[in-house]
Amino acid sequence: MSGEGGRRVHDGAEHGGQVTDGAAVDHYADDYEGFEDFDRLALDRSGQAEAFDAIGDRYDEAFPHKDGQVSAGQWLADALAPGSRVLDVGCGTGLPTGRQLVEAGHELVGIDISPGMLALARENVPAATFHQADIVDLRAGGRYGPGGARDLGEFDAIVAFFSLLMLPRPEIPYALRALRGLLRPGGLLALAMVEADVDDFALPFLGNSVRVSGYLRDELRRVVRDAGFEIAAEDSHSYAPASTDVPPEIQLYLHCRRSV
Ligand SMILES: C[S@@+](CC[C@H](N)C(=O)[O-])C[C@H]1O[C@@H](n2cnc3c(N)ncnc32)[C@H](O)[C@@H]1O
Repeated sequence: MSGEGGRRVHDGAEHGGQVTDGAAVDHYADDYEGFEDFDRLALDRSGQAEAFDAIGDRYDEAFPHKDGQVSAGQWLADALAPGSRVLDVGCGTGLPTGRQLVEAGHELVGIDISPGMLALARENVPAATFHQADIVDLRAGGRYGPGGARDLGEFDAIVAFFSLLMLPRPEIPYALRALRGLLRPGGLLALAMVEADVDDFALPFLGNSVRVSGYLRDELRRVVRDAGFEIAAEDSHSYAPASTDVPPEIQLYLHCRRSV
């Protein structure tokens, strides 16, 4: 991670009404509300959006046959009342999950830091609404969070498939709490992570490099519960991507409910 003197460095996404160009910015002075030690962290997103911009629709080619993801999306779609409001965090291309939720009759809002991914998502799921935003922008007082200038409002459910793993590990508990703050009491969270004991690990990924984090499953359960969720069910899948530069992985799907 980079950043100095408690200032958070961000690269290339919208913040505080502006689009940054990689220069150090201090829009995080308000921190994740309630998480007093968060100012010890520096947010470094350098290269993450750019990698996904460059990957584009090769992402869906490299990750075909998403049986586990489709099952987890179906769990969420079926558990919700018709017309529920769902936030897709790190929505990627909108396939398969965004489209699946819209086809099930739900109202979908997606956020992602990659303009390239968002362009594909808008094409793939035209009935949904998408915003270029960072997960950190969803915290209370953040631009898209409760009380923020572009507050997205309350959701019946959130889906975060393989997006929180793009954060440095110390940030993940805060991000989960921020997501909890967007859910109505009893609201649902469908979470997918890759099982791996890594923090901010540079991974070669479809000709680019992205930094990823993960937990072994007991630790992931603990982090999720500590953030204020009950785990109603879980599922794991061994997954071998089509691409040769991405190793096989164990995918963990957690079906969670906001504790009241
Ligand atoms: C591995 S992809 C998963 C995409 C999609 N959720 C899926 O399951 O197919 C991770 C996505 O998270 C986005 N992302 C990475 N860091 C992010 C951040 N800090 N805030 C919002 N989105 C982020 C990437 O641009 C990418 O689209």
